[in-house]
Parts: sequence; structure tokens; C-alpha cells
Amino acid sequence: MEPAGGGQQQQARRPPAGPGLLVLLCSSLLLNALFVAHHLVSPSSRQQLRLGDDDGGGSSCGLTWSLQAARDAEAVVAVNCSGHGQVFLDGVAGDDGRPGCECNTCFRGPDCSLRLPNCTADADSGNPLFLEPYWRRHAAASAVVVSGWHRMSYTTTDSMFQSVELEQQIYRLHRAVGNAVVDDKHVVFAAGSMQLINALVYALSPDANAGSPPARVVAASPYYPAYRTQTEMFDGREYVWGGTTAQVGNASRNSTAGGGGGLIEFVTSPNNPDAQLRESALGSSAAAVIYDRAYYWPHFTHIPAPADEDVIMFTMSKPSGHAGSRFGWALIRDEKVAAKALAYVQNNIMGASRDTQLRMLGIVKAMVANIHAGKDDIFAFGYDVMRARWSRLSAAVSRSRRISLQEMAPDQYCTYFKRVRDPSPAYAWVKCEMEEDEDCHDMLLKANIITRTGVTYEGGSRYTRISLLKSDDDFDVLMDRVTEFVNAEKDDDASGSSSM
Ligand SMILES: Cc1ncc(COP(=O)(O)O)c(C=O)c1O
Repeated sequence: MEPAGGGQQQQARRPPAGPGLLVLLCSSLLLNALFVAHHLVSPSSRQQLRLGDDDGGGSSCGLTWSLQAARDAEAVVAVNCSGHGQVFLDGVAGDDGRPGCECNTCFRGPDCSLRLPNCTADADSGNPLFLEPYWRRHAAASAVVVSGWHRMSYTTTDSMFQSVELEQQIYRLHRAVGNAVVDDKHVVFAAGSMQLINALVYALSPDANAGSPPARVVAASPYYPAYRTQTEMFDGREYVWGGTTAQVGNASRNSTAGGGGGLIEFVTSPNNPDAQLRESALGSSAAAVIYDRAYYWPHFTHIPAPADEDVIMFTMSKPSGHAGSRFGWALIRDEKVAAKALAYVQNNIMGASRDTQLRMLGIVKAMVANIHAGKDDIFAFGYDVMRARWSRLSAAVSRSRRISLQEMAPDQYCTYFKRVRDPSPAYAWVKCEMEEDEDCHDMLLKANIITRTGVTYEGGSRYTRISLLKSDDDFDVLMDRVTEFVNAEKDDDASGSSSM
């Protein structure tokens, strides 16, 4: 954990250039050339591409132990899954001892070329696979080679648990995007922002032996359910789940009234599930406010100004899409609160995985290097995808009387793009308008669309959430089912009957 602006420290850690530089340069050039070649050549010719195979080893350029790993990594990418699936190095091995294609939801067959007819659209999870095509296009910039002896120690440089270099790159990313003020903040890494939820609640709660009543953790509905489920699961003496902000009456808001402790409010902005930019509902009557800014990136929202709250959570899952790496971070103004959150992560997992930190370093560097670089800018790419998805879905739903979507303000000025932009939310918050459709999730399930019920968010069963973050295939199937649903409604209207 380091405050921002530690450039000197970073310089002190930079290794001196030496004779190994030539070998390193050579290796890096070869790897980059291979990844670029892989990206440019056709799938069939890619199958023949093997490092150092064709030239008697002359092009191995001094590479030794990393050659086989590079071959293996390239070999799985070269397998043809018809664009509807992919092979992973750690996939289940088939009879030939090799992992096969893992097909996208509605595709089957050894090469995923069979599309299941009338397949149910799964729009449930917030799996950020919409960014997979971006990383395929930036394969060389984001590839990481890890030796078998990389950072085997529990600790990293100077007996720390956090990579100072990664901290610096995260500060650079925030400064370049303009979505958070970092200069007066400490950064705490964790295994996803999921882990930060309880780490921060713990850090902001009174000590168990302080004799004060436990803090009450609250959020305005609809809210991300893990705030409630985690607080209830850990069931600490220091804090309890206090319900929604609406349930916390004015009389019981301050720390001693109402029989409860101080209030710790979670504010998700933009919100999951309804994508609204939110402010604290309790304001100064909250003892502490934790801002969850998982979606405060130009893919999903305009950026009116850098966030500068006392405690802010971020995750890499949504801006880069690497949810599987499990990496999140908190920006915390107060040194004591930061130290307590860090102590939580250390006691819990001895610091975020060093392998994950290495991978994230490469990813964040690639993101920073391409800021405002046209189509190579991940934020421009992500915004284009999400905007197009929202535009297609809202056009289809606008023809329906049975369902509607949340209002999204048009033409908001974004300081990142330096222009007004269209809405591009991560989720659609669907409302069932007909009196008889009390359970919106159930109603859409009958139309072969899996959503996440509004009950989960304490938003009521008349609402349900559609994820727009998944793969292109998932979104295409979703659009097929939504279009059929709306067409059936129109047919019913025309015939005066109800088939749904
Ligand atoms: C608002 C919000 N906070 C936190 C998380 C958890 O993210 P992570 O993958 O970093 O655990 C999510 C994931 O969907 C989310 O939507």
C-alpha cells in the first residue's frame, strides 16, 4: 500500500541495463513477431505455425525454457472452434490427451459449429465476455510468460504483498481515464472487489471491544446483493446488515439512536442493476459511505468528473473483462482505514495472488498504452459494443407494451471522450408492465430468456435484470428471443388473443 506519486521509489527499483539486455530484446522481438503473425495469418495456416520448428531452431533467438509453453499457448488458440467456442490450456483432456473446444451456450459439436435451434437465451450473469474479441486483437500486448519459479515467496519486493509497479500503473490508468482522484489515496489490492466488500465494512466498523453497538450496513434498493449476503454471512460483532436506506428511519440514522450503531452505506455508481449514477441516500447521516465504482469506466457510463470519495472500490472484472483473475482494489483516503483493510486482506489471503498481479500488470499496461488510440483504445471499443447492444435492445423493447427498460439520459457529456455520448449500460433493468405479470423473471423464462429476478436486488418481482456484458453469441441469441417475444405480442394484439 503506497500513496500515489511514488515515482522515485519506482525508479530506485528499476534494474540496471546489462549484457542480458540484448537477449531480452531478442526474445521480446521474437515473441511479439509471433503473436502479430498469429493475429494476421488465416486459421488454417495458423495450425502450422510452430515456434522454431521450420528453421532448425535458428529463429528461437536464444529462447529456451519458454519455447514449449509458447508453443502450447499458440497451439490451443489455433484450434478451430468455428468462432463459437474456444480451447483453454487447462480444459478437460479428451481421448487424444488434448483439451477440446468449449462451446458458447447455444452451440454444440466438436468444433462448436452446430447452433441449437430455439435455444434459451441466458442473460443472467455479469460475465464480461464482450471484451474477449478486444484481447484476441491485442494478443501480443497482453500475453504474459511466467517461469516456474516466478515469485514463489509469500511476499514480493521489499517484503510487501502488493506490486509497487502495479500500483503505479493503476494510478496511471485512473489519471489517464480521469475517473478517480488518486493523489491523496492509498491503494489496497484484493481478490476481486468481492473480497473488498467485507474488508471495507470491517475497516470502517468500530472495534469489537470498543463497547459500541455494531455498525449497520445499508444500501438503497435496488442494490448489488453481495453487500447483504456477505454482511449476513460474516455475522460479525462489529457490524450487522441494517436493510435498505428507506427502511432506516430518520430517527435511527445517527449512531446511537434507534438501538443500532453507525450506518455504513454502500453506493454503487453506476448502479448494478439499473445503471443509474447514484449519490449517497443518507448523506452526512451515514458514519461512512463505500462507493462501489465497478462500472465507472467509459464503456458503461459518461465520466462527468473524477470520483473523489473517501473510500472507493474498483475491480478489473468490468473494465478489462478479466473476471477470472479475481483482482480488485480500493482507493482509501484515510491511512488508518487503509491499514485496517490491508490487514484484513493479509489475514484472509496473505495478499492478492502474485500471479494475478503479474498478469494484471501486463493488462493495465496494455490498456494505458492504447488510451485514445482509436480502435485500439479498450474504452472506445467497449463503448461501441455496449452502445450498440443497448440501442438494439431498447429498439426491440420499445415495440412492447408488456415490458419496458429503465430510462437512460441521452447525450451526456463525457470528459474521457470529450463529447456527448449515448447510453451504454452494462445491464437492462426490465419492468413488467401488465398487472398479471407479477413475476417478471418467470414471465421471461417462459419466453426462453433467463434473467436475474429483481427480488435479488430488493427491487421487487415486477423487475428483472438482463446482462448485456456477455459474449456476442449470447447477445445475438438474446436478441432473437426478445424479437420473437415482441413479435408474438404483436401477433396476439392483432388476433385479440394471448399466447404468452
Ligand atoms: C457492483 C459490483 N460490485 C462488485 C462486483 C464484484 O466484482 P469482482 O469480480 O471484482 O469480485 C460486481 C460484479 O458483478 C458488481 O457488479
